[in-house]
Amino acid sequence: MPQLIELGRILAPPQPETVHVPEMEKGVGCDFSRYLLVPDTSLHERIGAAVERLGTDVVILGHHYQRDEVIKFARFTGDSLKLSQQAAAADAKYIVFCGVHFMAESADVLRQAHQVVILPDLNAGCSMADMADIGQVETCWAELESVGRLNVVPITYMNSTAAIKAFTGEHGGSIVTSSNAARVMSWAFTRGERVLFLPDEHLGRNTAYRMGIPLDEMVVWNPYQELGGNTEEAIRRAKVILWKGYCSVHQRFLPEHVDRVRAEHPGMQVIVHPECRFEVAQKADAIGSTEGIIATVTKSPEDTAWAIGTEIHLVNRLAKKLSRHAIISLDPHVCVCSTMFRITPQHLLWVLENLLEGNVVNPIRVPEDQRQWARVALDRMMQLV
Ligand code: 13P
Ligand code: SF4
Repeated sequence: MPQLIELGRILAPPQPETVHVPEMEKGVGCDFSRYLLVPDTSLHERIGAAVERLGTDVVILGHHYQRDEVIKFARFTGDSLKLSQQAAAADAKYIVFCGVHFMAESADVLRQAHQVVILPDLNAGCSMADMADIGQVETCWAELESVGRLNVVPITYMNSTAAIKAFTGEHGGSIVTSSNAARVMSWAFTRGERVLFLPDEHLGRNTAYRMGIPLDEMVVWNPYQELGGNTEEAIRRAKVILWKGYCSVHQRFLPEHVDRVRAEHPGMQVIVHPECRFEVAQKADAIGSTEGIIATVTKSPEDTAWAIGTEIHLVNRLAKKLSRHAIISLDPHVCVCSTMFRITPQHLLWVLENLLEGNVVNPIRVPEDQRQWARVALDRMMQLV
């Protein structure tokens, strides 16, 4: 036994702290040897068996950035928009969301009354969503109001906490995803004169610029500075106020990477996610959400070569599936979403076997006071899709 504990320490996933402590206190799923010290083959057999036994009671959703060993069990795969729609339409009692926290929260807001959303590892967060804290956003709003009658509509990327989504709903705004940002932003300009875009500076800038808004009509709001680091005059001049948040995965892609691909692989097409920097998006041949990237590359003629600027699991999977296309990552150095990566087959098995035993571990529940307004913001988006 001491030997097993030692092995457990070395074998890391899932680390003891990733298990929901209150559940452990109740004695649920705390026998690590049932999950840690299992060869991959039997782990997969056990997941398959649990999925089969749970039948229509469970639906597993997998975001495109999930690792292969997890996504192969997903009944539905997609980008955050598609998954949120599938979560809403699914009839299963349990929605096991193999994605990150904000996605599971959105599914919880959209779910039917009899459903429960489960996130296999509660530590699967999103660094970008964490960059906009509700207190900071409320301060920003109050400071904008102090500037005068600006007529601002808040637009919030799906990659945000439920509290920020609720704030958006309550203040007349809508959610956007990377596949409908321009449509939602156009709608916002029919309701107000300015947009406050949360929390991704790059998606906001890339979208607004493609809609014809010049860069000098955009300001960046740094929540750690008074008036976001802007003068009142600059704010009055701006049409778009961009929250200073970013994705640590996509911000790694640089214009130099595009230049290198162009030099080393003449004729290769570059497609990037809109969370990439403006300078990268400008140099790319195409921009797309995860779903958009997959569709564009899949539909392209077989001899097309692609350099893709997004998370590496999606790129590798696409390269394997479309073996006649030459597909590489835009950044030669591995670029993984470390929080998505927290969802392991061990966590998936743990939640499924607990369901079989009648225990719901790691449920995601958005507080009631946030749910109502977050739903308003999400519904506004859904009506525009
Ligand atoms: P998609 O909506 O394009 O899947 O993007 C989600 C995400 O988190 C990208 O970083
Ligand atoms: Fe968040 Fe970036 Fe990971 Fe997407 S890729 S979940 S934005 S950290």
